[in-house]
Amino acid sequence: MKQFIFIASFLLLLISGWRYMASDHQPQFATLCSTCPPGFELDDKNRCRLRSLYQMYENKDGNNPGVGGLKTALPAVRDGFTPQQIDLGRYLFFDPVLSADGTVSCASCHQPDKGFSDGLRTSVGITHIPLKRAAPSLWNVAFLKNFFWDARATSLEEQIAGPLYAADEMGTTRDQLLKTLNGIEAYRDLFRQAFPQKANTPIELNEVYTCIAAFEATLISLNSRYDQYAHGYANALNKNEIEGLNIFRSFVARCTECHTPPLFTNQQVAVIGLAEPDHTFDEGAAKTFNDPTLKGAFKVPSLRNAARTAPYTHSGRFEKLEDMIAFYTQGRGHEVPPTEKLRIHWHIWEPHLRHDEIDRIADFISALTDESFKPQIPEAVPSGIKLKKEPLTHSLSLK
Ligand code: HEC
Ligand code: HEC
Repeated sequence: MKQFIFIASFLLLLISGWRYMASDHQPQFATLCSTCPPGFELDDKNRCRLRSLYQMYENKDGNNPGVGGLKTALPAVRDGFTPQQIDLGRYLFFDPVLSADGTVSCASCHQPDKGFSDGLRTSVGITHIPLKRAAPSLWNVAFLKNFFWDARATSLEEQIAGPLYAADEMGTTRDQLLKTLNGIEAYRDLFRQAFPQKANTPIELNEVYTCIAAFEATLISLNSRYDQYAHGYANALNKNEIEGLNIFRSFVARCTECHTPPLFTNQQVAVIGLAEPDHTFDEGAAKTFNDPTLKGAFKVPSLRNAARTAPYTHSGRFEKLEDMIAFYTQGRGHEVPPTEKLRIHWHIWEPHLRHDEIDRIADFISALTDESFKPQIPEAVPSGIKLKKEPLTHSLSLK
């Protein structure tokens, strides 16, 4: 019965969420949205709280379902932002006015239609020169404990300062950003609504970071066909996908040792032994943790919506999921240049997967796609800058 009530209230939330999205058609900055996005429920302090079926599994009798378990609890989530902060964050995320020359927004490199990545091997910012690394997806960042491929930031707010002030990404400065936003009447009004207790003071940087983090933390993807299967609907996955899941979590393939459900990442860094496309070596997490044994270690990416986020890895090495999976089966360390001594993770070995098994794993990963909570792209942004249909980075594809 309890489960039934939980599921029924979850469905109600979904429906109210869709109404929220449907009612958001007009470009209108006068009043920020006062309801929570889909999947969230407003508490009595005007804060949005995540509601997910996975919360049923929390602390379940202290049972450990193992690394490949279906009914596995989620890590702690960053929720508790107000609907107004989330809505303002959405405008900031899509507004190129945040960059030095008004050409690049967060959404230029994290495009909703590309799994919040950009489809490029490595991203390009205001200088049009390719960066060193690929843009990761932003789905489910609300659950992550560290950010960037080398895990060098420990909060969403800390991460945001990276792209804003990097000369080759958005290239602005703290002073310029504050001056710009405080100079736009529409933004002054919107920040007053999002931070009513500070209505008489100028816009502050931590308010900008809070709103962008609030928006990012609503990008929840936990309702794929895999999830429906995990919650008990046996027909949600077809035969090939179930076969793929079973190979994926077998001790032969060992994928779930690192890509652990329900997020499909254990949030650790690992050395898997990829070569760099241009033969210059990326140290990865060795620098972050000042630990030479982590040379070439990168954060284990979540595989949710991976079918949408090609090309893959920190360097955008692989165009197709099958190519990435084949990498694991070609032998431990087969790509490591003889001059590099890497401590490859012990779960990377030689599973000798057949072609059809690689295809089944790709089938399974594709069943992790869920974009039902994709937010509405604003039709206009408070700066008045016209949004390009095709973001700037698109025409510079290196493919
Ligand atoms: C020029 C392209 C570009 C722009 C603009 C950009 N990003 Fe990114 N983003 C990237 C790249 C590339 C990485 C990975 C960099 C690394 O790991 O060193 C990244 C990483 C991230 C991550 C870490 C995700 C994870 O799983 O570790 C988050 C969160 C993020 N960006 C959010 C934002 C936000 C918010 C903005 C706007 C303030 C933004 N990005 C602007 C390209 C961009
Ligand atoms: C030892 C931990 C570990 C194991 C085991 C592992 N992976 Fe990974 N996986 C990683 C890391 C780390 C990366 C990112 C590497 C990089 O960018 O340099 C990654 C990247 C990926 C990607 C690309 C995702 C993206 O968004 O770029 C896919 C797909 C993937 N792994 C699938 C698998 C499959 C399938 C298996 C089992 C055959 C597997 N992994 C086993 C650690 C692991």
